[in-house]
Formats: sequence, C-alpha cells, structure tokens
Amino acid sequence: MKLFIDTANIDEIREINTWGVLSGVTTNPSLIAKNGGIVKDVLNEICELVDGPVSAEVNAECSEGMIKEARELVKIHKNIIIKIPITEEGLKALKILSKEGIKTNLTLIFSESQALLAARAGATYVSPFMGRLDDIGEDGLKLVENIKKIFALHNIETEIIAASVRNVSHVRGAALVGSDITTITYKIFKEMIRHDLTVKGLEKFKEDFNRVYKKEIK
Ligand code: G3P
Repeated sequence: MKLFIDTANIDEIREINTWGVLSGVTTNPSLIAKNGGIVKDVLNEICELVDGPVSAEVNAECSEGMIKEARELVKIHKNIIIKIPITEEGLKALKILSKEGIKTNLTLIFSESQALLAARAGATYVSPFMGRLDDIGEDGLKLVENIKKIFALHNIETEIIAASVRNVSHVRGAALVGSDITTITYKIFKEMIRHDLTVKGLEKFKEDFNRVYKKEIK
C-alpha cells in the first residue's frame, strides 16, 4: 500500500517527504483554504516537492464548469490529477476527462455503488471516506474492503485511496484489506512512527552505552 499525505501545507509535506515514504499528495478545497496562498502556486510547489500524483479538486457544480477547471488545473504540472465529487455532474465530467487522458480521483465516496459507478466511468482513483462513515456509526473500513473485493472480482483497474483517516488503526486496517493507497494527515504520520517501547528501548541503549563507553569517546 502506498502512502499519500492529506494536506496542502508545504512545511508538513516537506518534512514527511524527507522520510522517503511519500508517493503522492491529496488536497481538497477545505485543506487549500486552511493553508491559504494562491492556489496555482501552492499546487505547483507541492508537485515540485513530491514526485507522484497530486490531487487538486474542482469547485464547479456543473460538468461543464468542472471540465473547464480540470483542463486549467492539469496545465499547472504533469503530476496534477483531478479530484471530482461523485455526483451526476461529476460523472459526466469524468466521462469526458477520462477520454482526454486526464487522471481523476473520485471523492466523497460513501458506498460501494458510488465506487462502481466512478470506476465504470473511467476514474483512475476512488476515495472512500472512512472516518466520516465511522462518525455516523457506519464502518468505513468495511467499505474499503468491499470496494477492493468488487474491483478484484470484476478486474477493475481503478485504484482505491482510503481517505478521511482518523487514526493509526485506520491505516493498519486499510493496509490489511488491500487498499492500494491511504492518504494520511501529518499528525497521523507522526503517530505512526512513535511507539513507547521504541522510546524506552532507545533510552536504555543510550544509558548502557554511556555507562560503559562514554569515557572512551573523546
Ligand atoms: O482529503 C479528503 C479526506 O481525507 C478528508 O478527511 O478528516 O475531512 O474527513 P476528513
């Protein structure tokens, strides 16, 4: 499973990118608004930092508007892929854009049927939102597992980006059910690397090393 970062914050992307684990970036209008700056410049900077797909979302509600925005967004950088909400207008736009060879990420996926429609209309990626489903008492991970099963059964090449990830256990779950990608916030990357036993183990190694060898090191 590949790991994307879910943010538009350049400092966060830069820092996690130094770990060598990033295969892409996802943004959305809320993340872009939170970051501020000129959208085109922010997206271009992200693309220059991370060598992989960078999702940029359209804001128009009609398919014509989405198509127009998408054609502009892809001019920013070769790594840009277009994030489109799963609506009737979104599907119409997807059909045209996929024929033009523009890569897409169908977002706000909350059901297996939405994922299947997106895939059949030519989506490169679908993004099921795990956390938001859990928030309403449903099982977000089960949705990722079911989409994976359906795509495998019917030889569908659309890849799954497990999104709206709220904790490390979501990441582990998505990996175990075979999600192709999970998109993770900066905070969760930090939680993934930390383990109390690693911290304790390091302290003990340092203590033992210093006790026996420190005096020998000049
Ligand atoms: O990028 C889309 C998704 O990951 C949003 O997550 O936390 O707003 O539900 P969240």
